[in-house]
Amino acid sequence: MKGIILAGGSGTRLSPSTDSMNKHLLAVYDKPMIYYPLSVLMLGGIKEIMIISTAQDRPRFEELLGDGSELGITIVYEEQHEPKGIPEALLIGESFVGDDDVTLILGDNIFYGQGFTSLFRKALQNNEYATVFGYRVKDPERFGVVEFDDGMNVLSLEEKPSEPKSDFAVTGLYIYDQQAAKFARKLSFSDRGELEITDVNKQYLKKNQLKVQLLGRGFAWMDAGTHDALFEASEFVKNIQDRQGFKLACLEEIAFYMGYISKEMLQKKGNDMKKTDYGQYLLEIASRKHNRQYWDDINQHPVLGLVNNE
Ligand code: TTP
Repeated sequence: MKGIILAGGSGTRLSPSTDSMNKHLLAVYDKPMIYYPLSVLMLGGIKEIMIISTAQDRPRFEELLGDGSELGITIVYEEQHEPKGIPEALLIGESFVGDDDVTLILGDNIFYGQGFTSLFRKALQNNEYATVFGYRVKDPERFGVVEFDDGMNVLSLEEKPSEPKSDFAVTGLYIYDQQAAKFARKLSFSDRGELEITDVNKQYLKKNQLKVQLLGRGFAWMDAGTHDALFEASEFVKNIQDRQGFKLACLEEIAFYMGYISKEMLQKKGNDMKKTDYGQYLLEIASRKHNRQYWDDINQHPVLGLVNNE
């Protein structure tokens, strides 16, 4: 399984903050936005990841995350020259994905909730053809809406319907088999001048190959694409972190608990950043005894089992 994070786009709704800065490098509270989708892929156990941004911003992402080796993963970079739509990621990433399956995540989507790792990993394992993630919203008419049966088979997909057939929005996280790029290649531009990811999903639906995995009421899903949403996401992250003392989307912590990096690597990174709260947090993890009691999701997961890097 390969992973793609789409972090291009124009970010017009966040202007002027995004006039000279890629949206996904803006901070959501105490870390860049891109950390959040990257943490999702890492929690899923996906270690080969492509980040797609604009030609102008690519060097900044490279500077931030490098080749991924400090996190024990591989990160490669590509460019989307114009924001022609989300499915273009499948075409840009086609040779990188090769004969693998791919998980695509939008760079401004934040997922959080107890049990997310298990749920996501099971969805990755159970995926036959394509899986989208549904999240109940109170204003479904603003979203892509998914209707489904008891077997979680998708029955319909509608973009911003005036009369939604369900209350479940399709989030910016998609698991696809090898057909995805082929489907993306068939698309034509929509009325708003973009290739639409819903049209890729509809091609799976036409073949009865689209499943939905619901994220229940205990989950938070946010996209940080407007000033209010970005502020609210920052507040959410701060509240949870202050209350529990755990950080959300701390990539080095995830890498450590996944067994990708050693305690020494974690300590080194913590020392490099020790003037910051983030660096202190890494040092605290490195010094914790009985580390695993802090990491329910991984401990509870039958496939991951216990990681032996203490
Ligand atoms: P959007 O929020 O739809 O678009 P945007 O980021 O360009 O912002 P705005 O509407 O304010 O102009 O994009 C959703 C996500 O997908 C976001 O993380 C950016 C990414 N994206 C691309 O990288 N390339 C694209 O062509 C599109 C349409 C989106």
